[in-house]
Formats: sequence, C-alpha cells, structure tokens
Amino acid sequence: MSKQDLAKQRAAEAALEFLPDGEVIGVGTGSTVNYFIDCLGAARQRIAGAVASSVASAEKLAAQGIELVELNSVGTLSIYIDGADEATQHRQLIKGGGGALTREKIIAAASRKFVCIADESKLVGRLGTFPVPVEVIPMARSYVARQIVALGGRPTYRAGFVTDNGNIILDIHGMDILEPTQLEQTLNNIAGVVSNGLFAARGADLLLIGTSDGVRRIG
Ligand code: 5RP
Repeated sequence: MSKQDLAKQRAAEAALEFLPDGEVIGVGTGSTVNYFIDCLGAARQRIAGAVASSVASAEKLAAQGIELVELNSVGTLSIYIDGADEATQHRQLIKGGGGALTREKIIAAASRKFVCIADESKLVGRLGTFPVPVEVIPMARSYVARQIVALGGRPTYRAGFVTDNGNIILDIHGMDILEPTQLEQTLNNIAGVVSNGLFAARGADLLLIGTSDGVRRIG
C-alpha cells in the first residue's frame, strides 16, 4: 500500500470512534471513504444503517451488509463522514472530485456533525489549486461556462461524466479563492447551477488528517 493510501486508511479508521450507537449515519464518496466503508463492515452491528451520497457508496455499503436508508425517511443525522479534495485549517473544503458533490452537500447540511477524513496531501493554505467542480443542468452548460469565465475562472467540461442526478460537471480552474463563502454563493446563484464543490458556508466540523505518523485532528 502507498504512503498516501495508508494515510487515508488511518484517517478512515479514526472516524470509527465517532459512530453513534444504534443510529443511521451519513456516508460520503471516494477512495478515503471506501476505506471507511471497509472498516464499517466489521462495526455494522453498532449502527442502524447509512444514507449514502452516491450510487457507488451505496453499492459498497450494501456489500458490507449495511442497511441503506433514504435521507427522506430519517430526521437530522448526528454524523456525516466524507472525504475532501482540499481542506484548510478553517475546515473549509473543495469536494466533488468524484462528482457526488450535490448529494454530499445535502447530507452535510442535514447532519449535526461533519467529520472529514483525508490524507495530509489534502491540507492546503488556500483553496483553489484543485479545480472547483460545479454540477450543472445539461441545457445550461454553455451559459454557465460563460458566466464562470466572466468571474475569472477557466471551466472545463468533465467529458463523458454524468452525475447520479443526471447532470454534467464543469471543473473550474484558475480561480483565486480569497473569499470561499462568497464564491460558493455566487456560483450557486448562476441559473442552471445545481450546486458547487465549495464547502465553505457549511464546512467540516472536524478534520481527521491521516499522516505518516498517525492522525491529526483539526477542530
Ligand atoms: C467525491 C468527493 C470526495 O470526497 C473527494 O473527491 C475525495 O476523494 P478521495 O478520498 O478519493 O481523495 O468529494 O465527490
């Protein structure tokens, strides 16, 4: 296993400490979360089930014998566990590298505590080296792209990718993200945008950062 994968696995294992006994939890998407789902298999008796942020995670959870629950059939979740593409010390994030950003944002919003698990390569001083994913209604693709250019970004179409919601992704490169919360809102206000991968207004409550020595906690 690579050092980075080991760090992802460490962060994932550390999240087990936060499982609320007998409750339904929120589970995100990505390679770090896949390590978490692997661990969750052995701890499945502790939880009542999981709300998944993607079809891919739902399939993995089901394979571990974990009951899948619809978000509409539960109230506020006490915990949501998910990864990130970038994270700051202030626990603001870029997410959506795997294209599941909209469902991730919904579950994060519906959860009291968002525990973000990531390896140390994800920790950055300022967000924006990783392109910001934007989920867009297909017919609005060109319009949204022009609006993003007007904001100073370089949108690229994620060719051949369709989200679980049937939409497309534009990845925005080259944005100087000085005010993540403001940019998150500005992007959301473009007609045709479903959501964007800046998790700034509602960031993580706790970062578990896997390193070569162990797990660093921020928050
Ligand atoms: C998926 C996500 C993931 O959390 C993010 O891409 C990190 O993935 P990984 O754990 O594979 O590095 O936001 O939409």
